[in-house]
Amino acid sequence: MHILVTGGAGFIGSHLVERLLREGHRVTVMDNFFRGRRENLAGCATHPSFRLEEGDIRHYDDFERLPDGIGMIYHLAAQSNVMGAVTDLDYSYQTNVTGTYNALKFARDRGVDRFVFASSRESYGEAQYIPVDENHPLNSKNAYGASKVCGERYCDVFRQMYGLNVFVLRLANVYGPRDFDRVIPIFINKALRNETLSIYGGKQVIDFIGVDTVVELFVEMTGHPAVAQPVNVGSGKGTTLFELAEAILRESGSASRLEVLPAREVEVVKFVADTKRFGKIYKTKVPENPLSLLAGMITFEKNSGK
Ligand SMILES: NC(=O)c1ccc[n+]([C@@H]2O[C@H](COP(=O)([O-])OP(=O)(O)OC[C@H]3O[C@@H](n4cnc5c(N)ncnc54)[C@H](O)[C@@H]3O)[C@@H](O)[C@H]2O)c1
Repeated sequence: MHILVTGGAGFIGSHLVERLLREGHRVTVMDNFFRGRRENLAGCATHPSFRLEEGDIRHYDDFERLPDGIGMIYHLAAQSNVMGAVTDLDYSYQTNVTGTYNALKFARDRGVDRFVFASSRESYGEAQYIPVDENHPLNSKNAYGASKVCGERYCDVFRQMYGLNVFVLRLANVYGPRDFDRVIPIFINKALRNETLSIYGGKQVIDFIGVDTVVELFVEMTGHPAVAQPVNVGSGKGTTLFELAEAILRESGSASRLEVLPAREVEVVKFVADTKRFGKIYKTKVPENPLSLLAGMITFEKNSGK
């Protein structure tokens, strides 16, 4: 199948692209390198079934340049974090809302069969109960979460009006090699330099899931019948930031200390996914140990020599 991965130069996207090529698909990546990195795609660049289209999802014209014959879209391009949406509200809105609308419109205009949307646990906002199932109200408390809710709504509209097979996945906190600027890579790099690890607030409970599981699940969607409901993609297990920091210090043999700083108000404090729907619908296994990629990631960060 010919597959378009928007945001394919990013953290999750680049792992997905590598895997789709290994599965024998033809893959086109559309990315504007806002946060993605060329080196993430270094292993694919010369693959005969790989094509990179530098383009911006905020502009429909850029979609129109894409080749014909695309059968499936993984829509991952986004301003992909909470603090980024605080710093630049306009970019977040235009990329995450207008850009998602453009991607859906492109799917309709070109007769694309299936569309996977990377939504977020931030759609829920602060949890009213734990674990959070998919029927929990969508009370996003920041602009990033709000933009994901808008994207989901447009996915529903395109499903209903145009029969697009849309899969909406509400990802928990995904981690793994090539991620940066998020808590796990920040903690690991500080630990490797024996610098103090800063915890904002200290009450956070986070559901981590490795990028390996997320990619496995994404690939399953190439052949899975359409699923009309959103699905939580998490481990179903909560990890506090103290537990995370201690695991990283232990695993890396670091002498770093921890400091607790004031909480950042826009951040959701507690989230643990209810993973029943994930486990019921898909063959991909919900991971037993949410931090199983930690050791590999520490090695990756050590070798990248930052
Ligand atoms: N990593 C997580 O924990 C997590 C959790 C929930 C949801 N998600 C969602 O999953 C998707 C992938 O996340 P990620 O962690 O790989 O993020 P990422 O930032 O590494 O990847 C996003 C990619 O989108 C590209 N991009 C940004 N603006 C663009 C634009 N206007 N036009 C074209 N490309 C653009 C970036 O350059 C980047 O390569 C995102 O939609 C994100 O919101 C991620």
